[in-house]
Amino acid sequence: MPASTMSAPAPTGAGVFSRMASSRHLLGLEGMSRAELLEILDRAQRFRDLLDGQGIQSQELRGVTVCNAFFENSTRTRVSFELAEQRLGATHVSFSSSDSSTAKGETLLDTLRVVQSMRVDLVVVRHPSAGVAAYLARHLDSAGVINAGDGAHEHPTQGLLDLLTLRQAWKGQFEGRRIAIVGDIAHSRVARSAIHGLRVLGTAVTVAGPPTLLPMGLEALGVECSGTVDDAMRGADAVMALRLQRERMEQGLLASTSEYARVWGINARRVELLEPEGVVMHPGPMNRGVEIAADVADGPRSVVFQQVTDGVAVRCAVLLRCATARAHEVRP
Ligand code: NCD
Repeated sequence: MPASTMSAPAPTGAGVFSRMASSRHLLGLEGMSRAELLEILDRAQRFRDLLDGQGIQSQELRGVTVCNAFFENSTRTRVSFELAEQRLGATHVSFSSSDSSTAKGETLLDTLRVVQSMRVDLVVVRHPSAGVAAYLARHLDSAGVINAGDGAHEHPTQGLLDLLTLRQAWKGQFEGRRIAIVGDIAHSRVARSAIHGLRVLGTAVTVAGPPTLLPMGLEALGVECSGTVDDAMRGADAVMALRLQRERMEQGLLASTSEYARVWGINARRVELLEPEGVVMHPGPMNRGVEIAADVADGPRSVVFQQVTDGVAVRCAVLLRCATARAHEVRP
């Protein structure tokens, strides 16, 4: 589609991200610079402060149309994108795989081209296959694509919200800190995005989990592997527990859930191994009693629900960034 036929005006907050050569897409945190990460976090922090105060009632995305296309289950990601869109004044629509025409045999690309033809400016997509967001970004000629989780590849807005939560817990200091990420690393797009962001910001990462659930190539990302959860958590400034992603797992990778909880679960005794101000994170959905004990999830070190609030702020910042970049890219 020629640029001149695109009608969405520049978001009213266009100045905010205009210094940065950003893209209209957000496909992952891999390759993102420290400056880009911090710029998004700064902007997100301002939205976060508003959420704690007067609330977000903005028209910065007035005239921008967003479609949330979810081909996999989601509660917090989808709801927080929808809330962020609403609070910034965007026009937004959502559909899931069960109520879309892909269920009638239409290809994914055709479904999204249909959406684009309705003059949708941004598509937020979640899909079980790794690489789908990048594939759509290559083939949709006018819409911006925001990855809301593609298979075991990346979940960049989750990675950013994890950074926002940690920045608050760590008083702005990522360097010299260390986080333990525990559990099913192999199938976790959350871990992958968090690792990319944290390493760029200078935080050490130790992972621990059953050997069958640790992927190859972690060392290349500058990540330490630990044989036990106790060793990983001892002296760490945060721990992130991950859900067992059974929907992405081959059979036979795990012995039993109770054995997993005993060997790898985050319990109250293990939380005591963290630094005194160390926090406990979980991207959700939590399986209480498996990867995280209920008293830890509800305990004083848990920032699990703070992460959810931070998610709305991060999605506001990301939507604004992508809409601004798109308006610049397509300006005649
Ligand atoms: C995660 C996901 O979907 O990757 N959830 C989320 O978006 N907060 C983690 C998970 O499903 O376990």
